[in-house]
Amino acid sequence: MFLVTGASGHLGQAVINHLITTYKIPATSIIATTRDPGKLAALAAKGINIRDANFDDEAHLIKAFAGASRLLLISTNAMEPGVRLKQHQNAVKAAEKAGVGHVVYTSMPNPETSAVLFAPDHVGTEKALASSGIKGWTVLRNNWYFENLFFSLPQALAAGTQYSAAGQGKIAQIARDDLARAAAAALVSDFAGKQTLTLSGAKEYTTDQIAALVSKAVGKPLTVVHVPVEGLLQGMLGAGLPEALARMFASFDVNTAQGGLSGSPAAFKTLTGVEPQSFEAWLSKNAGAFTASGAH
Ligand SMILES: NC(=O)c1ccc[n+]([C@@H]2O[C@H](COP(=O)([O-])OP(=O)(O)OC[C@H]3O[C@@H](n4cnc5c(N)ncnc54)[C@H](OP(=O)(O)O)[C@@H]3O)[C@@H](O)[C@H]2O)c1
Repeated sequence: MFLVTGASGHLGQAVINHLITTYKIPATSIIATTRDPGKLAALAAKGINIRDANFDDEAHLIKAFAGASRLLLISTNAMEPGVRLKQHQNAVKAAEKAGVGHVVYTSMPNPETSAVLFAPDHVGTEKALASSGIKGWTVLRNNWYFENLFFSLPQALAAGTQYSAAGQGKIAQIARDDLARAAAAALVSDFAGKQTLTLSGAKEYTTDQIAALVSKAVGKPLTVVHVPVEGLLQGMLGAGLPEALARMFASFDVNTAQGGLSGSPAAFKTLTGVEPQSFEAWLSKNAGAFTASGAH
């Protein structure tokens, strides 16, 4: 049995899709967990086993994970540093107690040296896996999704200006659907040891290069204004962003400037046997969503 947590989320939904359509796993061999089973009615109708699982409740998690031989632990979206770590530690402990043989975990690139404020949560989770009694695990250090641009760029496109403290740092961004394919591949593989793979896209781009490509695809001008990180932070605070969120976003740029998101597609290709989708191809399909509200 293959178990996918976070199955109602964007990545989880796409993983289930790849399990069924790409890897031909029967629906009855899949367990999908969520805090709200009502959200997964469509998957239940396909024959997928739906279970209630909240990482804040370790005791209940053991029941939710029972019978799973391989489990995909999708990192949660809690923003406050430290919260995810506790949730993930609960999930790792529960997987061990439930007798899961292999855990696949979605981490981030270079977490040990990353300036991203929630990076320590990924470091802590990777350590929890390494020190657990779980027989095997695969850590997937997922690079940034192309889809993150739906959050950062619509406002900038409306104004024609993007403020950045990322300098000439490069991002080896990748389509979320490719990361879902990779997670599904790791889940169904017969790999039984312990490995850490960094999953990055076909090419690395600077913020200027990304802005130029998005601008061209959307047909709107977009100028990148490079500012020091303190200026970026003050700008976000001045625009009314809560301080914790502003500091989090600023840490993304610092990390990019430091090279924390550069990378190559080698591990992705080995794991999946396919090329990652190029940013240009993805843009040609998704350009409309930059101007449609709420789409991601
Ligand atoms: N690499 C990147 O660029 C990038 C970008 C954004 C996010 N991420 C990370 O990747 C994860 C998956 O991305 P996504 O796009 O699928 O995010 P998403 O759509 O926001 O989904 C997040 C998932 O986290 C689950 N979750 C939240 N709190 C939970 C809890 N207490 N217990 C169990 N599950 C919980 C939710 O499950 P239910 O609501 O069904 O319980 C939801 O399915 C995110 O959560 C985040 O850690 C990475």
